[in-house]
Amino acid sequence: MCTRNLLGIAFLLTAVAHGQALNPQSPKLGKPITPAEIAAWDIGILPDGSGLPPGAGTSAEGARIYAARCSACHGPEGKGGASARLAGGEPVKNMETEKTIANFWPFATTLFDYIRRAMPWQQPRSLTNQEVYSLTAYILSLNKIIGESDAMNAQTLPKVRMPNRDGFIVRFPDRTP
Ligand code: HEC
Repeated sequence: MCTRNLLGIAFLLTAVAHGQALNPQSPKLGKPITPAEIAAWDIGILPDGSGLPPGAGTSAEGARIYAARCSACHGPEGKGGASARLAGGEPVKNMETEKTIANFWPFATTLFDYIRRAMPWQQPRSLTNQEVYSLTAYILSLNKIIGESDAMNAQTLPKVRMPNRDGFIVRFPDRTP
């Protein structure tokens, strides 16, 4: 390497060091994210219920909300319409069988997570936690997985055992209840 190159590199290093000393945030790409900003997006719920928010809801309240905000697409009492049925379903026999909450979903907590992050389709994240608990209770009770008067909350929901709970190969046993 010739002396001119060495001088060039030395100059560059000095300039970089100088820049950092003057401005520790250099090169000013983005800004640090705040814990509040992370919390707004960090809404994942695990099978053991971690991540479930405070609040509670019942099937009776859920039925009322369902009629107003869900049945236009999913049909009355979750029987299906323009969009997937949310109640019932034949036992899964092969790849052709329609997969439903009752015959396929292994964890009840996924229902809360799905509804809260994605439904109603045209207005996701517009439901309160209490409304989501109520809708979860209503759909589980339509499927006769819980009783009509069982309240769903952060303690009761993870304890609900889904019919297809053992139909999957568990990938992370230490994180599965
Ligand atoms: C504008 C239509 C629309 C409305 C309103 C709507 N959904 Fe959906 N929903 C969909 C679509 C589309 C899907 C994706 C699956 C499909 O193609 O049917 C879906 C999927 C779902 C699923 C997953 C079903 C499965 O077995 O994979 C659930 C649960 C669900 N919606 C619940 C709700 C609830 C609860 C409400 C009311 C708060 C609601 N949806 C309102 C259109 C809608």
